[in-house]
Amino acid sequence: MKLNSGTLLITGGGGYIGSHTVVQLQAAGYRPLVLDNLSNCVPAVFERIEQISGQPVELIEGDVRDSVLLERIFSRYPIDAVIHFAGLKAVGESVQQPLRYYRHNVQGSLTLFEAMQRHGCKRLVFSSSATVYGPAATMPVNEQAPLAACNPYGRSKLMVEEMLGDLAAADSDWQIALLRYFNPVGAHPSGLIGEDPVGVPNNLLPYVAQVAIGRLPQLQVFGDDYPTPDGTGVRDYIHVMDLADGHLKALQALTDGHGCVPYNLGTGRGYSVLEVVAAFAAESGRPVPYDIAPRRAGDAAISYADPTFSRQQLGWRASRDLAEMVRDHWRWQQRNPNGYPTE
Ligand code: NAD
Ligand code: UFG
Repeated sequence: MKLNSGTLLITGGGGYIGSHTVVQLQAAGYRPLVLDNLSNCVPAVFERIEQISGQPVELIEGDVRDSVLLERIFSRYPIDAVIHFAGLKAVGESVQQPLRYYRHNVQGSLTLFEAMQRHGCKRLVFSSSATVYGPAATMPVNEQAPLAACNPYGRSKLMVEEMLGDLAAADSDWQIALLRYFNPVGAHPSGLIGEDPVGVPNNLLPYVAQVAIGRLPQLQVFGDDYPTPDGTGVRDYIHVMDLADGHLKALQALTDGHGCVPYNLGTGRGYSVLEVVAAFAAESGRPVPYDIAPRRAGDAAISYADPTFSRQQLGWRASRDLAEMVRDHWRWQQRNPNGYPTE
């Protein structure tokens, strides 16, 4: 089966990971149709994608929970496969607003899968997360490790993974890749697209970038008493372009009899918070002042992937190192100090 030049539905294609994946899909000759409700992206992202690829983005503005709209989309377009990014992703917010998370992430997914089933479109790449392994997992973690999400966001991902496992068990025509992302960072090397968080960033790299550019005064390092070499948390940061390439490899792997298969998308190497801060200061030439704050509730000490299975099965491996991640993130930050233009 060859999917190249096929029409793909990309839910959440205006978001951070989706936008980089759309660029790579266009470059590879696919026709990505984006379904996005613009709740966490702005229309400018689509102009930027067009600037990079030279190809227009076909945007359907709407919600993945809207079954009437999905019915229209699947009736109108010959969709070969779906990449499902759309959803909410802030762990802390999910603890405060669990029902909203289950509605977007679980009900949204269910509505989408039902529409796919009705139309016989049974190839899917799903955005899952390393958070499904839970904070007590042994590192490096492989896909066979026990699953134990510990907050509503993580449970929403786990529920969808389980739903998809049941679906593939019931109907062997379904071909599903569950992509468990580690910590996506960086930006397209053009500096035209990148991560544009609303308000104060939750995640390390966008926070550090905003300190370096002068939008935030200093970083709080959440804990320096973890059992790690320098006491700060260790994560498997992965360049968003490597992640985007992983989606193309996963799509190509969706061949007959694939079933529902989880893949880690990580580099296999962990960096501490202080190593990231040092790398950012070195690449940007700007100071990144920080102080040590208490541990953040729910944080694991160490999280990094065993990417062996993805390498063997998908022929994929991350090729960009921390310096490149930080350099590309900084380029994006410098060229867009306030994120995407909003008008
Ligand atoms: P993002 O918020 O930048 O992108 C999500 C996109 O989906 C946004 O453009 C938003 O407008 C859209 N959207 C949200 N709810 C929608 C709905 N109900 N209908 C239609 N569109 C909707 O997030 P991202 O960082 O690009 O993450 C993409 C996916 O990857 C998410 O499912 C997220 O949970 C998962 N993930 C992200 C990370 C990370 O650190 N960024 C890590 C692991 C997994
Ligand atoms: N950190 C700080 N200060 C900050 C922000 C983060 O010290 O201001 C530290 C954290 O304590 C952690 C590391 O930087 O040690 C990385 O934190 P992030 O918030 O960037 O990333 P997480 O690993 O906590 O979370 C990410 C995604 C989640 C996902 C999780 C597991 O944001 O959605 O990975 O896959 F659930």
